[in-house]
Amino acid sequence: MATIQAAILGFGTVGQGIYQILNEKKVHLKQSLGLDIEVKAILIRDLAKSRMATPGVLVTDSFQEIEAIPGIQVIFEAIVGEEPAFDYLSRAIQKGCHVITANKVMFSKYGLQLEKLANAKGVHVGYEATTAAGVPIIKTLKNLLQVNQVHKIQGILNGTSNYMLTQMRIQQCLFSEALQEAKLLGYAEADPYNDISGQDAFRKLMILSNLAFGKQPEWDEVEVEGITNISLEDVRKASKEGMRFKHIAEISQEADGALHAYVGLKLVGQEHPLYAIEGVDNAISIDTNYIGTLTLSGPGAGKFPTASVMVEDYADIIRKHTEFLVSI
Ligand SMILES: NC(=O)c1ccc[n+]([C@@H]2O[C@H](COP(=O)([O-])OP(=O)(O)OC[C@H]3O[C@@H](n4cnc5c(N)ncnc54)[C@H](OP(=O)(O)O)[C@@H]3O)[C@@H](O)[C@H]2O)c1
Repeated sequence: MATIQAAILGFGTVGQGIYQILNEKKVHLKQSLGLDIEVKAILIRDLAKSRMATPGVLVTDSFQEIEAIPGIQVIFEAIVGEEPAFDYLSRAIQKGCHVITANKVMFSKYGLQLEKLANAKGVHVGYEATTAAGVPIIKTLKNLLQVNQVHKIQGILNGTSNYMLTQMRIQQCLFSEALQEAKLLGYAEADPYNDISGQDAFRKLMILSNLAFGKQPEWDEVEVEGITNISLEDVRKASKEGMRFKHIAEISQEADGALHAYVGLKLVGQEHPLYAIEGVDNAISIDTNYIGTLTLSGPGAGKFPTASVMVEDYADIIRKHTEFLVSI
């Protein structure tokens, strides 16, 4: 049986999750795909850090060393930031590798470019993990776009903000206390700027915009607000009126094709599809012409939700690619 050779870029929360799931599901994947997979190399930044054992795998801080390994066909990418991730994935695609990424910061900016390059090279890009981790929004959108037209997308795309807003309402705590708790539970980073400023939700919205509308609005024309201005008093007042504050990223398309996007706090009532989304969950509500409104919700982050959808992307890509090779 043939073996797919793979590399994992980044071996933090997500990268380790990918490695674990590939090992745990090895036999199952082999049976369902008719191909084995072997992780040949792992890229990290700090060679001195102690980390889980990966017997027989090259662990390196040099991407060039990974590029030089003959026969790598799949790259899983779970590093941080636009660069060098974009450079590494472009180089991998140029060499004929399929790539699967969780990196929303990089993909929101370079996603269309990478997909264009991949099309030209006859390989695939998987990016389910970039937007809502365990919530299968990318495959769902791809599927419904075959027939439906999307008018509007609204999402709770940042679990940390949603957790904090939920805690402020249920525990009647201050913003600072909710943030402290989110940090203690590992939901917020030591530097929570991207989560509470709305930037994380904005990047994910831009990925959805590319997929649903084939383009993005001008980034500097999108109003992006976080949750930092909300007070316990605001939350209490909303509750008394039967309303809830939700941090919502939304985008809609006008009849003339123009896109309107907004990221920020919204006061919603019980009739709103995102009213009941609590804690760290993510949710996305899509308005379409034939289906009407569809809402998906679930875990929008975390080691295994994120890593498992990357392995699903891998299985989809291998299946698609094998069918393509058989057909020519
Ligand atoms: N965590 C989640 O729940 C989640 C969910 C969805 C998407 N994501 C995305 O997935 C990616 C990884 O997230 P994470 O939580 O796994 O991050 P993490 O725990 O901080 O791990 C990042 C890993 O990437 C390595 N790395 C960072 N920059 C590098 C560079 N320039 N060259 C080589 N290696 C580099 C780090 O190396 P060292 O170990 O040597 O420091 C580390 O192993 C991010 O883009 C994130 O936005 C994460």
